[in-house]
Amino acid sequence: MDIKSNDKEFIANTYGRFDLELVKGKGSLLYDENDKEYIDLGTGIAVNIFGAGDEEWKQAVIDQLNLIPHTSNLYYSVPQVKLAKLLCEKTGMKKVFFGNSGAEANECMIKVIRKYASDKYGDERNIIITLINSFHGRTVTTLSATGQDVFHKSFGPFTGGFLYTPANDFAALKTLCEENKGKVAGIMMELVQGEGGVIALTPDFVKSIEAYCKENDILLGIDEVQTGNGRTGKLYAFMNYGITPDVVSTAKGVAGGLPLGACLIGDKCKDTLNAGSHGSTFGGNPVVTAGAYNILSRVDDALLNGVKEKSRLIIEKLTYLKLDDDMKPVGFTAEGIDEIAKLQDCRSDHDEDIIETGKTAKIVPDLRTKDGKTVEEVIKNYQFGIWPSFRKGIVSVSGMGLMLGIQTEKEAKAIVNKAIEKGTIALTAKTKVRLLPALNISNDLLEKGLDTILSAIEEV
Ligand SMILES: Cc1ncc(COP(=O)(O)O)c(C=O)c1O
Repeated sequence: MDIKSNDKEFIANTYGRFDLELVKGKGSLLYDENDKEYIDLGTGIAVNIFGAGDEEWKQAVIDQLNLIPHTSNLYYSVPQVKLAKLLCEKTGMKKVFFGNSGAEANECMIKVIRKYASDKYGDERNIIITLINSFHGRTVTTLSATGQDVFHKSFGPFTGGFLYTPANDFAALKTLCEENKGKVAGIMMELVQGEGGVIALTPDFVKSIEAYCKENDILLGIDEVQTGNGRTGKLYAFMNYGITPDVVSTAKGVAGGLPLGACLIGDKCKDTLNAGSHGSTFGGNPVVTAGAYNILSRVDDALLNGVKEKSRLIIEKLTYLKLDDDMKPVGFTAEGIDEIAKLQDCRSDHDEDIIETGKTAKIVPDLRTKDGKTVEEVIKNYQFGIWPSFRKGIVSVSGMGLMLGIQTEKEAKAIVNKAIEKGTIALTAKTKVRLLPALNISNDLLEKGLDTILSAIEEV
């Protein structure tokens, strides 16, 4: 059977597929129908966090399949309770609602926010503010929550009650809240905008929102569908910011390759949902939650430290910067200095000792970027989660942990196509090449995959 032509004939044409048919995989290596091998730096869009076919996870799933594959949410379920308890213990949240996807986890978050406000203040208080450039899902309501005009077409009328404000501009958000005083029920946002281009919010912005929400009894909902489950170097990205959200949604990696969405509900609103107010036939299915329990109990400090190390490895390789423990640039790698000198036609008599002490910018004082800044200035002025790149063909690298976007000079889609041709799978996000490797990928495979991406950048 010709899969590609039958796909076109029988499957709703909603995806712009890459020319790739994956049939099997082990860890971070995947294989197509001709047994060609690929290094996987995409993990099915942040899903297979332990790679493909992880043995422990597989066993947990099979054991549950042998016990009972499906019951109903009308009855008690051992794996569901074990998972909910573990999620609460690891996050400080108090209750969990299970659905099947990220969009459903967000639908639940929206319902919790609105019902909390309605119960306490009446139905007038129903506005949810989200960020411009956000992405929250494909149902009609989560499309409304998504702060990108391109998604607000063709399917109207959309769910009302959503307002949008720019990321990292607390003054604008506060003004919007004041203009709608007494009517704002919640603020909902991703901490690293994934589909929007892998952009991390600034800590000041996030902290200010948390404080404002607390003062005004506005619920703070964090969408951790993509950032969650270890991807950013902490179990959930909100832990990187030191905040306590009221509601958290997650999905993608949480069950390591099976469909699960979870809405984690904090202390303030833990009793908001009551019997009959929400539900799902498959949500929290025993097989899926057994898989998720296995995954979540293995996201430990060792794995998370590995995520940070691998993140640094990627950023240093793609930018030529040297980073300190807080991922701040402290200088250049030796290759970086040579490369900059070559690009700018300057001398490069670098000295390894100076590089190690982080004073490298001083030995190349005449270097200027295209817009006239000294290299030292550029390093000092880096934004949270964005590193300037001094590598040819790469403008910058953004994101957090193993959720990174590479702003390339040439078109990202063409680079990803070329990388796939050469045996490495990556993704795109807006104008960027997006990397979402397995959290346990070996450094060796990671470096090989990056080398392929770099050669694709050169060749396109
Ligand atoms: C931040 C965020 N929220 C929600 C969703 C929707 O998740 P799903 O496709 O599982 O419904 C996504 C999917 O990419 C996402 O990245």
